[in-house]
Amino acid sequence: MIILGIETSCDETAVAVVERGRKNLVRAERIKSQEELHSPYGGIVPEIASRNHLEYIDRLTVEALADARLTLGEIDLIALTLGPGLIGSLLIGLSFAKGLALSRNLPIIPVDHIQAHVEAAFISHPKIEYPLLALVVSGGHTTLFYQESKLHSDMIAKTRDDAAGEVMDKVAKHFGLGYPGGPILDQICPGGDPGRYPFTFPRISDGTFDFSFSGYKTAVLRIAQKNGIEAGTRKFRDLVASFLHSIVAYLFSMVESAAAQRPVRSLVVAGGVSRNTLLRKRFQEECEQLGLPLYLPEPRFCTDNAAMIAWLGYEWFRANPDGPWRDLTISSYSRARFRETGRHR
Ligand code: KG4
Ligand code: ZN
Repeated sequence: MIILGIETSCDETAVAVVERGRKNLVRAERIKSQEELHSPYGGIVPEIASRNHLEYIDRLTVEALADARLTLGEIDLIALTLGPGLIGSLLIGLSFAKGLALSRNLPIIPVDHIQAHVEAAFISHPKIEYPLLALVVSGGHTTLFYQESKLHSDMIAKTRDDAAGEVMDKVAKHFGLGYPGGPILDQICPGGDPGRYPFTFPRISDGTFDFSFSGYKTAVLRIAQKNGIEAGTRKFRDLVASFLHSIVAYLFSMVESAAAQRPVRSLVVAGGVSRNTLLRKRFQEECEQLGLPLYLPEPRFCTDNAAMIAWLGYEWFRANPDGPWRDLTISSYSRARFRETGRHR
């Protein structure tokens, strides 16, 4: 089966052509990142994002099909990110996908962007065992799921304020380093002394596993001000290293506590921040000590991409081939139900 994946939830316009069934491979993918456009603003400007999706979505699709050496007539299914994301950006993807689907009488599978990040790990590791814990750590989300099987996912924790990537982006913006900040801090970190500036872990004392990251930004700014730290200095590298080591240790401590309370056979860490060099290394070491197999997506599938959307879309279609896949609107997205019950089914 050939699936066309479409992702336009944030600041990447992405199209992928994926083959699933007897063969399981990403046949082609095209991504147009808007990082340069948003960089001067230190964050995403929704209007710029939507307009850019509109400008690129059709040509990326043509290019991805050409790369895959396929025609539109050979597509069996369209998988589309329907949420969460910027509404204008999502609507560009939805309108484009609906146009294609109507013209070719194709089903469209709506895909949850956060769940698709988890699925990205399965592209290179198809045999990940359940039940699993999945930490999605990105610029928009820091969420921990418990999954007993592929399409049954319980959200057990989320951030109460900023996402982990968002706080990195904000810190980088404050020091005038550009956007996105995560990869920039990633490069600075190895040159610093992580023990120089102590950070304490945020604590939410209501018995949940929820995360909080906004205090990190305040702490970084306070330490910088108190010690007269400016970007590009030795002290700054030490501050970045201390900050990132603390975030990674905090994330792992939360995962470890959640794992201690339920049967878990695997851990998946996905989303843009799972590209981070320190996170990948430290989680690998800690998981080995704990005897918990760790699965990370390939770096190119950590950040937003359409291959993960197509991959998960196929699973939903396979589970329910006769589903309501031909009558899709933005309101058919079931996040309301997700919030109500804390379960995503
Ligand atoms: O998953 P993603 O592409 O978009 C969202 O769904 O949010 O994640 C983007 C986030 C940004 O905050 C970016 O700074 C962060 O991922 N990121 C990184 C790295 N690469 C991207 N954070 C730390 N280290 C990296 N190497
Ligand atoms: Zn994402």
